[in-house]
Amino acid sequence: MRTQVGIVGAGPAGLLLGHLLHLNGIDTVIVENRDREYVVDRVRAGVLEQGTVDLLAAIGVGAGLESRGLRHDGIFISFAGRRHRIDMAELTGGKAITVYGQNEVVRDLIDARVATQRPLYFDAQCVEVNALDSSTPIVRFVHGDTAHELQCDFIAGCDGFHGVCRPSIPEGVLSIYERSYPFGWLGILAEAAPSSDELVYTYHDRGFALFSMRSTSITRLYLQVPPDEPIERWPDDAIWEEMLTRMTTSDGWQPNVGRILQKGVTPMRSFVAAPMRHGRLFLAGDAAHIVPPTGAKGLNLAASDVVVLARALKAFYETGSTDWLEQYSAICLRRVWKAQRFSWWMTTLLHRLPDLTEFDRQRQLADLDYLIGSRAAMTSLAEQYVGLPQDF
Ligand code: APR
Ligand code: PHB
Repeated sequence: MRTQVGIVGAGPAGLLLGHLLHLNGIDTVIVENRDREYVVDRVRAGVLEQGTVDLLAAIGVGAGLESRGLRHDGIFISFAGRRHRIDMAELTGGKAITVYGQNEVVRDLIDARVATQRPLYFDAQCVEVNALDSSTPIVRFVHGDTAHELQCDFIAGCDGFHGVCRPSIPEGVLSIYERSYPFGWLGILAEAAPSSDELVYTYHDRGFALFSMRSTSITRLYLQVPPDEPIERWPDDAIWEEMLTRMTTSDGWQPNVGRILQKGVTPMRSFVAAPMRHGRLFLAGDAAHIVPPTGAKGLNLAASDVVVLARALKAFYETGSTDWLEQYSAICLRRVWKAQRFSWWMTTLLHRLPDLTEFDRQRQLADLDYLIGSRAAMTSLAEQYVGLPQDF
C-alpha cells in the first residue's frame, strides 16, 4: 500500500493527527495493535485544557464534549483540613478546563475517522517501522492473515510509551531525560454523585488524594500509594476508609461513597525523549514524553504535538517547504518542558515524599499557604493548568 503519512497508534495523538490531516486533504493510514473495545474502554485521565476543547470543537469533533463535558472554572487545593478555591477563569481572563474522559475523546475521534472512510486498522500485529532515513519509510504489519507493507512519505509515531516507534530509532540518537517518583496512584471509578462540582487536590500527612469525576453520577478518585502497590492490598472498604480520612475537611465536605466500578494502580514518572524526530519518523504524545498525571497535561500535550506536526505536514504538501518539519521537535519540546516543570511542581507540592524531613514538611505546608494567599502564585498555577497559549 502507499500513503502520504503512516500513523502508528490510535490513541488521542494518532486519531487527532489523522483527522487534522484529513481536513487538509492529506492521506493517512492508522495502524493500531489493540482492538477497538480495548482502545475505547481503557480508563485514563479526563481533563482538557481550553486550547484542546477549542481545537476539538474547531475540527468538528466537539459534539460529545459540548453535551457531556463538564466545564470547571476553578479547582480546590485542600490541606490542613480546609479546601481553598482557585478561581482559574477569573485569574486567566475566562479560561477554564473541561472534564471529559479520555476514552470519550477517543470514541469521538474513532467515529470521526470511520465517517471519513479513511483506513484504520485495529488488531494489527507484528507492527514495525523501517527505512526511517529514506524518502520512503515503511510500516509493516499483519492484519488478519494478510501481511501489509505500507510505503509512506512520513511516519507519525503515536504508539505511546510502550510502542515500537521510539525504540526503532538507532542507538545514540535520542537523549533520554527521566525521573521516577517513589509512589504511584491508586485510581477508582465509583458509582457516586460528585459531592463537589470542581476537582479537589488534597495534601495530607498520609499522602496525596485527588477528587475528580466523569459525570453527574460517576466519581473518579485517586490515592497516593507506594510504587508497585499490589491492588489486592486494597479491598473496597479500605479504599473508602483511606479516601475519607485524607479528603474530609473541617467543614464536613467529603466524597460520596458508592460502588467501585474499576480500580488500578499506575506508576508515576516524568520522561522526555529528544529530539522528537528521526529522519522521516516524527514522535508525538506519550511515544516521546510522559508526565505525572498531577498536572493533567498528558492528553493535552499529545494534542499540541499533533497540531504542530499537522501544520508542518500541511506546509510541506502545499509548498514543499520543510522548514516547519525541521522545527517540529524544537517547537514541541519547548512546550513539553514547561508541562514537565508544571507537572513535577504540582507533584512535589502535593505528595508526601517518603524521605522528607520535618523541615521539608513545614516548608511544603508553607508552599501551600503561600499559594492560596498570593494572587500571583494562584495566577501562575491557573494559567498553566488551563493551558499556556500554543506557541509555534
Ligand atoms: N503498534 C500499533 N499500535 C500500538 C503499538 C504498536 N506496536 N503499541 C502501542 N500502540 C497503540 C496503543 O494501543 C494505543 O492505542 O498506540 C496507542 C497509543 O496511545 P496512548 O498511549 O493513549 O498515547 P497518546 O495517543 O500519545 O496519548 C497520550 O494518553 O496515556 C494517555 O496520559 C496519556 O493522556 C495521555 C495520552
Ligand atoms: C482525572 O479526572 O482522571 C484526573 C484529573 C486531574 C488530574 C489527573 C486525572 O490531575
